[in-house]
Amino acid sequence: MNQDALKRAAAEAALKEVLEGAIIGVGTGSTVNFFIDGLAQMRDRIAGAVSSSDASTARLKAAGIEVLDLNGVDDLPVYVDGADEITHHMHMTKGGGAALTREKIVAAVAKRFVCVADGSKLVGRLGKFPIPVEVIPMARSYVARELARLGGKPALRTGVVTDNGNVILDVHNLDVLNAVELEDAITRLTGVVTCGIFARRPANVLLLATPDGVQRLQAD
Ligand code: A5P
Repeated sequence: MNQDALKRAAAEAALKEVLEGAIIGVGTGSTVNFFIDGLAQMRDRIAGAVSSSDASTARLKAAGIEVLDLNGVDDLPVYVDGADEITHHMHMTKGGGAALTREKIVAAVAKRFVCVADGSKLVGRLGKFPIPVEVIPMARSYVARELARLGGKPALRTGVVTDNGNVILDVHNLDVLNAVELEDAITRLTGVVTCGIFARRPANVLLLATPDGVQRLQAD
């Protein structure tokens, strides 16, 4: 089974997590794209979607799914999104697609975060995948120096401007011993919008696709 087939299997399993008649939160990325394709088949059974990126919004609308403004939504039972890495504690690294800030906002509102991933994303400890950090452009150099003080090697993601008009620093070489502490330490740097460690708000459920099938995991 190739990686795309595994991503599709995880995404299709997530369709069973969607509550009939409710609004669904939709993440960003190649795995979520398969989820949106499946959601299109049941669009008459949901009340609409809130989206975590311009790219997902465009795909949802093309699938005939109404996209709602998060500010008008006070009950979001389920949010489905991918991850770049995820641990057995359901801590994640996200932001490989530069949508981390809106993803973190929608995840904060949602009652249940359902992560969809192929087996390669499950890790013992975060940090091999560089940690994305969204930064206000004028703070880029300052934040890069501070990230180096935290032990990381930040690299500007060239040619990328986020949906919020900011830049991304990808931080290599961080040993994420305590994901909550590191998330806090990075997020409190002045000029940082947010970082791609999702530990304060971990996933509730992981649908992990392997060649043996899709496993449904919850935090240890
Ligand atoms: C988008 O910014 C990311 O957080 C994605 O959710 C993450 O990169 C997973 O993407 P794939 O499903 O494409 O691997």
